[in-house]
Amino acid sequence: MTRRESILREMGLAPLWRLRDKPALPTQATAEGEPMPASPAAAPAADERTRRIAAMGWDELKSTVAECRDCRLCEQRKQAVLGVGDIEADWLFVGEGPGAEEDEKGEPFVGQAGKLLDAMLAAIDLQRGRKVYIGNAVKCRPPNNRTPELEETAACFPYLQRQIELIRPKLIVALGKPAAETLLNAEVKVGASRGRLFDYRGIPLIVTYHPAYLLRNLADKAKAWEDLCFARRTMKGLDDVGG
Ligand code: URA
Ligand code: SF4
Repeated sequence: MTRRESILREMGLAPLWRLRDKPALPTQATAEGEPMPASPAAAPAADERTRRIAAMGWDELKSTVAECRDCRLCEQRKQAVLGVGDIEADWLFVGEGPGAEEDEKGEPFVGQAGKLLDAMLAAIDLQRGRKVYIGNAVKCRPPNNRTPELEETAACFPYLQRQIELIRPKLIVALGKPAAETLLNAEVKVGASRGRLFDYRGIPLIVTYHPAYLLRNLADKAKAWEDLCFARRTMKGLDDVGG
């Protein structure tokens, strides 16, 4: 157990949960970095692409994502939306994918759900862009805002992976099921996962409801508030450990 994990444990925040048994994504690397090809024939090209993305800096990542046509979501997007915020952020919030307004403006969470996300951030004294980075599981808008499919989140995951490696956040908050499943590479039920600390490659990860869901299910806002308090407490624990 790492020192960080043992202090988190003392605070009642650990263990870090690792979900390994039910891989949700066919082609991405596992938390351990072991490739899990969908089919042997598809593996080398996918591996090569993942390796290429894993070596990119921000500029190359930005230009590659802007021109990416590696899944069918490229067909109807106006522009790909990489993410926004502090590239040395402590906090990383990951949503599902751009909606109409995000597709238009090129920035995540600028529509109604984004307003609620900004309010959620403010509730724990955070602000977009200040020690906070906001990204999405897929960078291109799914038609009619449908949920991204597994092949799409899998195709886009190396970009998110690279963003996380470059940012090195202290804590990741997965907003909703697609974000959580993409990051944890497993089936996730948001309701059952709240209040637990998961592990994404050594980075603590918290699962909560997506703001767009909260706009339709006002009763669950109180639970999201609890989750934010849990996140803030966890961050405080991480800061106390000095890491
Ligand atoms: N919903 C998301 O998941 N992401 C956005 O960027 C906007 C709405
Ligand atoms: Fe490429 Fe991701 Fe856009 Fe698909 S969603 S085209 S993988 S950037």
